[in-house]
Amino acid sequence: MVEPSSFPKPDDKKKFVRDKFSAISGRYDLLNSLLSMQIDRYWRWKTTRLLAEFPAGPVLDLCAGTLPLSLELTRQAKKRQVLSVDFCEDMLRAGKKALPEDDRKKRIFPVCGDGEEIPAPSDTFHGCTVAFGVRNLARTQQGLGEMHRVLRVHGKLLILEFSRPTNFIIKPVYSFYLNRVLPFVAGLVSGDKEAYEYLASSIAAFYEPEELLSMMREAGFSHVERKPLSFGIVSIYIGIK
Ligand SMILES: C[S@@+](CC[C@H](N)C(=O)[O-])C[C@H]1O[C@@H](n2cnc3c(N)ncnc32)[C@H](O)[C@@H]1O
Repeated sequence: MVEPSSFPKPDDKKKFVRDKFSAISGRYDLLNSLLSMQIDRYWRWKTTRLLAEFPAGPVLDLCAGTLPLSLELTRQAKKRQVLSVDFCEDMLRAGKKALPEDDRKKRIFPVCGDGEEIPAPSDTFHGCTVAFGVRNLARTQQGLGEMHRVLRVHGKLLILEFSRPTNFIIKPVYSFYLNRVLPFVAGLVSGDKEAYEYLASSIAAFYEPEELLSMMREAGFSHVERKPLSFGIVSIYIGIK
């Protein structure tokens, strides 16, 4: 399947994405809360709840960034250990610095690595989560194949990702917010308007839900389904190895 991206080569996208996240790493959490009015916390909570059947099994949090989902994963299950992989060292560093002084610090293992070549052995994890990361991969199909490889049989993949609302009232309001309000406010706070213009264009260019579900099947996942949240502004995609 062809990547829906305006980048001529996957490696150009990779470099652009890494540089952009590096530039905003210090303000990422603040901007997330501000721009989503904290709804992002509910989205991560809801995603993590779907792993409740594996309270003690190891989980891979891919594209972990500043570790917000890793924190929720270890908050909801007191014995769970999480390998948190991201290819942007500055994002991981900002997340590590902000980790609370409780036992979760000992159960979150941040590692710098590429989601398209996951630095972990096959058949290792009960769960794999990716929050707002799949859209940023330069080779989505390859990344999905890697997620499948590192999961154990019956392991669960949970992808939390932006989708495009279809409701005729929400759609224009959301589009105005995403394309006009968000880059302006984020530009003021982060000093990098381009990073948030990329956010809007990458959401617009991302696969249709049905396409992503079929790519998950192609990677080997079964029982593949989508749960839209908040009028379809985001969706959770679920697959079982
Ligand atoms: C929007 S942030 C999401 C961070 C976090 N998961 C969250 O819920 O806020 C996307 C992250 O994906 C990472 N990323 C993008 N492409 C990647 C790749 N090929 N391998 C590893 N990480 C990648 C970026 O560095 C960035 O930290």
